[in-house]
Amino acid sequence: MSLRANEVFLDYHRYNYRLRRQENRNLAQHLPEYKDKDFNRMKNKDTIAVRCKGITKTYGTGDTQVHALSGVDLEVRTGEHMMLVGPSGSGKTTLISIIAGVLDRDGGECVVFDHDFAHMNRYEKTRYRGQNIGFVFQLFNLIPSLSAAENVAVPLLINGVRRREAIDRAREILGRVGLGNRTFSLPEELSGGQQQRVAIARAIVHNPRLIVCDEPTSALDHETGHKVMELLCQVAVGTDRVLIVVTHDARIFEFASRIAKMDDGHIISVTNTPRYISDEKKELGVSHD
Ligand SMILES: Nc1ncnc2c1ncn2[C@@H]1O[C@H](COP(=O)(O)OP(=O)(O)OP(=O)(O)O)[C@@H](O)[C@H]1O
Ligand SMILES: [Mg+2]
Repeated sequence: MSLRANEVFLDYHRYNYRLRRQENRNLAQHLPEYKDKDFNRMKNKDTIAVRCKGITKTYGTGDTQVHALSGVDLEVRTGEHMMLVGPSGSGKTTLISIIAGVLDRDGGECVVFDHDFAHMNRYEKTRYRGQNIGFVFQLFNLIPSLSAAENVAVPLLINGVRRREAIDRAREILGRVGLGNRTFSLPEELSGGQQQRVAIARAIVHNPRLIVCDEPTSALDHETGHKVMELLCQVAVGTDRVLIVVTHDARIFEFASRIAKMDDGHIISVTNTPRYISDEKKELGVSHD
C-alpha cells in the first residue's frame, strides 16, 4: 500500500508539474521577444492565490493592547514559494494564522483561493481548511495522546478518509520525512526536531493547495532542514499550489521565489529572488541573458 500510495502521490505531482510547464510553453509561443519587463507584466496576469488588504489585528484591551497587524497588504500568486521574514514580534505568526483561517482578523480583507473565512461559519471553515490548507504551527501543536501516525492522519480523517487508509498514508509520509521507524511513538517520546517533522507530515498528508509553515526548520539540522524544504517545495509544485514559510533561517532562503519582510505589523518590502526569475524563465523556455 505504501509503495502504491507513493506512486500515486508522485504521479499526481508530476502531472501538475507537466501541466504547468505546458501552460507556460503555450504562453511562451506568444512571447518570442521576451524581456524582463515583459516577464513582470506577464506575472501580473497570474492568478492571485492569497490577497491580503489592510489586515488589522489587535490583541487584548486597554493598557495591555498590542497592535500585532496594522494594515498588512500582501499578494501571493499561485505556484509561488513565499518566505516571510522579520524581527520577533513583528506579526508573522499572526498574519499567517489569519491567512490559514486559524485566527480571525479585526479588519481588512483576506481572500484565499477566492474564499473569505469571514464569510464562513465554524463548520465551513474547518471543512475548507481540511480540504485546502496545511498548517505547520510554530509550537507544532501535536495531540499528546495520539501516536505520530495518528497525528499525521488527522486531516485525512477530517476529510472522511477511512482510518486504515489514513494511517497507511500517514506512515508513508512519515517515511518521507525520515520517521518511518517512529510511527507508533507519542509526541513526548520524540525529540523537538522529530516532532517538527511530524507536524510537517501532518501539513502535507492531505495534499493541500496552500501550505503555510511557521519556522518549519527551526529545530532541524542543516541536512534535515534541506530535505524537509525539498519535500515541501515538491508538494507545492503546480499552477494551483502555494507555499508560505515564516523563517529566520537564512539557509533555506534558496527555496524562496519571493521574500516578504515584516516589521512592526506591516509588510515593508517584497523581493523577487534570483530563483524566481530563473525558474520562470526556464519554464518559459527563455534564455538567461
Ligand atoms: N495571544 C496573544 N495575546 C496577546 N498578544 C499577542 C498574542 N499573540 C501575539 N501577541 C503579540 O502580537 C505581536 C505579534 O506577535 P507574533 O506572534 O505574530 O509575532 P512573530 O513575528 O511571529 O514573532 P516571533 O518571530 O517571535 O515568532 C507581538 O507583540 C506579540 O507579543
Ligand atoms: Mg511567530
